[in-house]
Amino acid sequence: MLHGELLRSPLAHARLISLDYSRAWMVPGVHLVITGDFAAQHNLAWMPTLSYDTQAVLVTDKVRFQGQEVAFVVADDPYIAKDACELIDVEYEPLPVIVNPMQAVAPGAPLIRDDKEGQKDNICYTWNVGDKEGTDRAFAKADKISKLDLFYPRSNPCPIECCGCIGDYKPETEKLTIYLTTQAPHIIRTAVAIVAELPEHKIRVISPDLGGGFGNKVPVYPGYVCAVLASVVIGRPVKWIEDNTGNLISTGFARDMYLHGELALTNEGKIIGARYHADTDNGGFFSDAQPTKFKIGLYHSVTGAYDIPVGYLTAQGHYTNKAPGGVAYRCSFRITEALFFQERLIQNAAYDMGMDPTEFRRLNFVKPDMFPYRTCFGFLMDSGDYEAALDIAMEQIGYHAFLKEKESARNSGRLLGLGTSCFTEPVGAGNSREYDIIGIKMFDSAELRVHPTGKAVLKIGSKTQGQGHETTFAQIVAHETGIPARDILVQHGDTDNTPFGMGTYASRSTPTAGAATAMVSRKIRAKAKKLAAHLLEVSEEDIEWELGRFYVGSAPDRGVSIQQCAMAAYTNMPDGMEPGLENNAYYDPPNMTWPSATYMIAVEIDPETGVWDVLRLVAVDDCGVRINPMIVEGQIHGGMIEAYAMSNMQFITYDKDGNCIGANYMDYLLPTAWEAPHMETFEVVTPSPHHPIGCKGIGESCAVGGPAAFVNAVIDAIEHLGVRNIDMPCLSGRVWEAIHYRKDVSGYPPLPGQD
Ligand code: CDP
Repeated sequence: MLHGELLRSPLAHARLISLDYSRAWMVPGVHLVITGDFAAQHNLAWMPTLSYDTQAVLVTDKVRFQGQEVAFVVADDPYIAKDACELIDVEYEPLPVIVNPMQAVAPGAPLIRDDKEGQKDNICYTWNVGDKEGTDRAFAKADKISKLDLFYPRSNPCPIECCGCIGDYKPETEKLTIYLTTQAPHIIRTAVAIVAELPEHKIRVISPDLGGGFGNKVPVYPGYVCAVLASVVIGRPVKWIEDNTGNLISTGFARDMYLHGELALTNEGKIIGARYHADTDNGGFFSDAQPTKFKIGLYHSVTGAYDIPVGYLTAQGHYTNKAPGGVAYRCSFRITEALFFQERLIQNAAYDMGMDPTEFRRLNFVKPDMFPYRTCFGFLMDSGDYEAALDIAMEQIGYHAFLKEKESARNSGRLLGLGTSCFTEPVGAGNSREYDIIGIKMFDSAELRVHPTGKAVLKIGSKTQGQGHETTFAQIVAHETGIPARDILVQHGDTDNTPFGMGTYASRSTPTAGAATAMVSRKIRAKAKKLAAHLLEVSEEDIEWELGRFYVGSAPDRGVSIQQCAMAAYTNMPDGMEPGLENNAYYDPPNMTWPSATYMIAVEIDPETGVWDVLRLVAVDDCGVRINPMIVEGQIHGGMIEAYAMSNMQFITYDKDGNCIGANYMDYLLPTAWEAPHMETFEVVTPSPHHPIGCKGIGESCAVGGPAAFVNAVIDAIEHLGVRNIDMPCLSGRVWEAIHYRKDVSGYPPLPGQD
């Protein structure tokens, strides 16, 4: 096996004047140097993105962000390849740099995407949804208007294992096997088949056990393309493994969004209309969801758990000299930003109204008897009980007692705060009518084969990255067929051995592939019932079912197990019945599932330093029917820790020259068990009305709803000082500034001239 290393650009915006790799080529052990020109000869210098934009694989014209991939060296080992990278002589002509949307639209801003025909500015999309006139009328009638501006900073998903790829092209069989850290192997295979004009059966994508995905492993990265191209050219396996800094500076950024919102309110505190605007920083290439194609992906869900009769939302995306941003880091693209913003806006509005934030929420919730509820931006919410979750959270945290304690603590100079976040979000894309990825409709699949002895293999189209599908999906089969979970092998991640599926992200596995698993299990059970009737010599109508066993309704002692039916499917089937016990199901959900939660967090701030500690953390989640409560709790814990990290300590930004600041784990902090707050978890269950077993997704709930609860708690502790906002991360320095002299501590990146 050979090894590839990437040479990355030290500059953020620069024209490529020349690239000379002759010294690298002379290093013993070097087999190939791929440049942008070489990739262009193979029609691979650019690749399509999810948003129908293009992204450079290797630089041909100019560099558009620091860390961009410039060349790829293939050698006997990674050390030789790395040393050889340093011997590549590149001459750049530096260009003015843009690091935020304000600079991107400023007069005289340099054009970043001059490669795109017809692109005259740095805007990658503009978009709106809702009823502008109706919203204007609501605001004209309002007794009060509450406003908030904030910035949701860049964040990086930080999977412990970075991205990697082995391209393995065998010239003798013309088969290309790609071992890839991907959350969506089937889509990758289709994309490769289309780009390389190879039939699917000549391409096998294997996504092995992954050390976390978190959305970071959805996109296609240049290192993948280079490893595959190198293998095809050389005819030997070529491996590329990203290092941590490479991951932090160039792959899969999330968020980076400037948000503005206004609520129109009556004197009683009822929301009668809402306006929102978002400016997104998409980096050098637009690779997150195209809003016109993927409505879940852009902010539509901002109304959250609230009954808002009318609203209008505008958004604009910008090219900047930063790595492509906006991946779905443990969320469905921009849902995290939307719901963070809404929960911050709601708390702010409650303060403006002089109301208790929980009472304000209660007044404005979508109530259980209002489902199905169509939001003003078009989603159909189908279930939930937000007040029930709020009640549990308030009782568990001792809400009213805490408010008293907070009051008396203030009198003695201590700063206590309580933050709430109540939200619901749509997860589980499709349906196929509305959602696609590069034209492929969104659904998912499962294939179930029961062997003669009653042991089974379940193959799914989704791909686990540590969420435990091997356990929970086996449980679904067990629940539907009575075959014990230990007798079920769950396979995923290998396109040669699993049915076509859209992969795992945005908490879609259980809503889609999980539903397909239930449906295929029911098909198996239906056939097994015919076999049972045959074995028991009665008609099918006389057969009843209890878990794992069919019996004669009028004589319950006469029965056969599911395992006996499985054996009969191969040894003793009735005349005319096709032998075997296997089937598949493709599930196209009629709607998203709507998990919801209330998170309530109590904090204490040290007024001398601005350091804050979490005193209590109560999480009440509703993910419908829980397949495996322990795994659900694990998902809640993990997501909440990520929310804590984003709100408290993770800071990655860019200086005015486009240098990425915080691109290592000494600066971009990952909380350990020591920092992680203790969590108290509770549940509400409102089953999804359309999912076959009533489940809703849970994977991303805390990462989506958690950050607002932490920030709301910090603001709540110092709200009496007039503080309305601290942008994440709420670093102790920022909190200290808020206590002492600023009402709004913005985390905007620096503007030109600022150091
Ligand atoms: O798509 P992803 O697997 O990341 O998210 P998910 O579908 O929300 O599931 C995360 C894990 O929690 C999986 O192992 C699920 O099967 C499990 N889960 C569960 O046990 N009960 C639910 N109602 C939802 C998810």
